[in-house]
Formats: sequence, C-alpha cells, structure tokens
Amino acid sequence: MNIGAVPGAAPAILRRSAAAPANARERAQATALVQAVLRAEEGSVVAEQPAIWSAGATGDLRVRRDGGQIAAAAAIVARDAVTPRGRIRLGLIGCVATSPDARGRGHGRALLEICEDDLRAAGCAAALLWADVPEFYSRCGYEACGAEVVLTIPKVDLPDLRACALYRPSYLGALECLRLAKPAHSERPRSESACHFGSPGAVVAVHRSPSGTINGYAALGRGSDFIGTIHEWAGTPEVVLTLVAFLQKQLELSETFLVTSVYDEPLGTFLQNAGVKPVLGPLGMAKALDPAALAAIATPAVGSDDSTLLRSVLGEPVAPLCTGTVPLYPHLSGFDSI
Ligand SMILES: CC(C)(COP(=O)(O)OP(=O)(O)OC[C@H]1O[C@@H](n2cnc3c(N)ncnc32)[C@H](O)[C@@H]1OP(=O)(O)O)[C@@H](O)C(=O)NCCC(=O)NCCS
Repeated sequence: MNIGAVPGAAPAILRRSAAAPANARERAQATALVQAVLRAEEGSVVAEQPAIWSAGATGDLRVRRDGGQIAAAAAIVARDAVTPRGRIRLGLIGCVATSPDARGRGHGRALLEICEDDLRAAGCAAALLWADVPEFYSRCGYEACGAEVVLTIPKVDLPDLRACALYRPSYLGALECLRLAKPAHSERPRSESACHFGSPGAVVAVHRSPSGTINGYAALGRGSDFIGTIHEWAGTPEVVLTLVAFLQKQLELSETFLVTSVYDEPLGTFLQNAGVKPVLGPLGMAKALDPAALAAIATPAVGSDDSTLLRSVLGEPVAPLCTGTVPLYPHLSGFDSI
C-alpha cells in the first residue's frame, strides 16, 4: 500500500524554500542559535544530527527572520517509514529553537507552519516530532500519537559474550541489511547511518555467528539522549539478549531500556515470557499535513476531521497491542529523530 506519491526507496528531497538559510552566513547563524539553545551545556548538534548537517544530508534548516536577524530556526527532513502494512512519508521536525529574547511573539508557531508547508510540498502526509515542550506543540495543533514499546531489561548475566564486539565502519553494509529487513524501519540514506553508528554518545555492538556473519546489532545512546537506552537493534531475541548483556557489561549498567516497534513481536513475546513487562507509549507528537493522503488508508468508519484520520493512521497510543486493527504503525529509531 503506497500513500500519495511516495516513490519507492528514493530519498525524499526538500524543495528550495525562501525559509531555508539564504547563504552560508545565515546557515551559520541558524546553526549557532540551535546549538546555543539546545546544547548550551555540552554536545554538538552538527555531530549528532547527520540528517541535517552531514555532507549529502537530505534534511535542511528553516528559519524565521525578524529585522534582519534570525529569530527562530528548526530542522526538517522528509522520511519514508515502511511497515508491513504499507509505507508513509513523514515530515520530521526537530531542533526547534527561538532566540531567548524573541520568545512569546509567535515566531515558534510561524516557524512550525513554514516547516509544515515545506514538508507537505515534499509529499509528507503528516509531521512528526519528539517534544521536550509538549504544551507548545499542543498549542500548535500537534497530538501525541503512534505507538512504541519500551522494555526495561534488568541485568542479564550470560557467561559467553565472545560473539559480541563494538561497531567498526566495515560492518556498515551488514548492519544496513539487518536494519532494512526489519518489519518497521525508515528509509534513511546509508551515508547517514554511517555517521550515526560512529556518532558521539552512541555505543553500537554487533553480534557475529560462528561463521563470522553479523546477525544482530544494538545501538545505545545518542549524543546526550537515550542514556541507557537501546533505540535501534536487529536480530533474533536470543541475539538481542546477548547484545544487551554485552552492552550492560561494557557500560556497567544495572538495567537497560530497549525501544521496539509494535511489529517486533518475537522479541516482545520472548522478553515478556522472561518476565519483562512491556510499556506501550506514544511514538511522538504529530499533525496531519495531507488529509487526502491519510484518508487513502483510513478505514471508512473513521471520521473526517484531521486528528481522527491521523490517529487512524499512526495509531492510538494504547490500541496496537490490544487490537492490532489500526492500519499503520510507523516506527523510527532514535537515530531517525531530529
Ligand atoms: C518552545 C519554543 C520554541 C517556543 O517558541 P516561541 O517563539 O516562544 O513560541 P510562540 O510565541 O510561537 O508560542 C506559540 C504558542 O505556544 C505557547 N508556548 C510557547 N512556549 C511555551 C512553553 N514553553 N510552554 C507552554 N506553552 C508555550 C505560547 O503561549 C503560544 O500559545 P498561544 O499563542 O496559543 O497562546 C521556545 O520557547 C524555545 O526555543 N525553547 C527552548 C528550546 C526548546 O525547548 N525547543 C523545543 C525542543 S522539542
């Protein structure tokens, strides 16, 4: 099932926009604003967000100007999310920052509208973001929706962890094959994955079979986010559990959080049988951009307002594990979030 004009695996390219940084100076100003507002203490947005700042990035910045200055900036990327029931092009929004002395004057709201217009033009059916300030996004029409499962795994003691090793760039091809074979994944460019797997704060472990084939991996942390959390992984339940034990040993963790999509049933069932209780939460906050594209996969019984349609596509936070009847549950890993 395809929605709208999603063209297979081709990366979604953002069109030129008057709200993109006009030149290198504006780009540097916008980057400095995002860095100062969101990473004042530590970390580098440029290193942590290859979707926006790496060579060949498919994402871009958008700015809100006021009196010759940049009052607010944000990052956007259009990304196709694949699920067993179909695919959906989502517009990711992140790194939203208004200069401290320009807040409360509508710049943030206007900037989101700019981002939404440009993402709609890139064929995105909905905008999706992960909010530190949900109240702001609620005021701008976003609702919590979608679903992901979080499992809290206590200390795993396994005697033999020799199959596990830390990531090396030569493993990239194998990891991408595993990632793209997952029932729910995003179609991010391989070059971006290369940046993510070696990015600051990310610890990526791989598992090799006796013949040397890489048959699983687990990525924990990203910049200052996802502390103690495996937010991207692949492999059989037994392989993933071995990777969890390896990462716990490497990082001296007494427990680990592991985020999965609702389609990762084998691991969820395996861990539930081992006594780990899954917690279902929303995927993020979202807003319909193209109700017609959403309606194309909504069930006829669904009402016609945007928010109802959106829920039918991205799912009620509590619905999927109970019923599994909602058509599509896209999943994006922590590396995809901007
Ligand atoms: C959150 C932020 C982007 C808002 O920018 P802004 O330019 O001040 O926002 P606006 O003036 O456009 O506000 C739009 C609406 O959101 C509300 N709002 C703004 N910030 C809010 C907050 N922190 N909490 C609750 N509501 C907020 C405003 O009251 C306004 O509501 P209304 O017009 O419906 O009455 C800005 O405060 C910021 O840069 N914060 C630090 C970085 C950050 O947390 N970014 C978000 C990362 S997910």
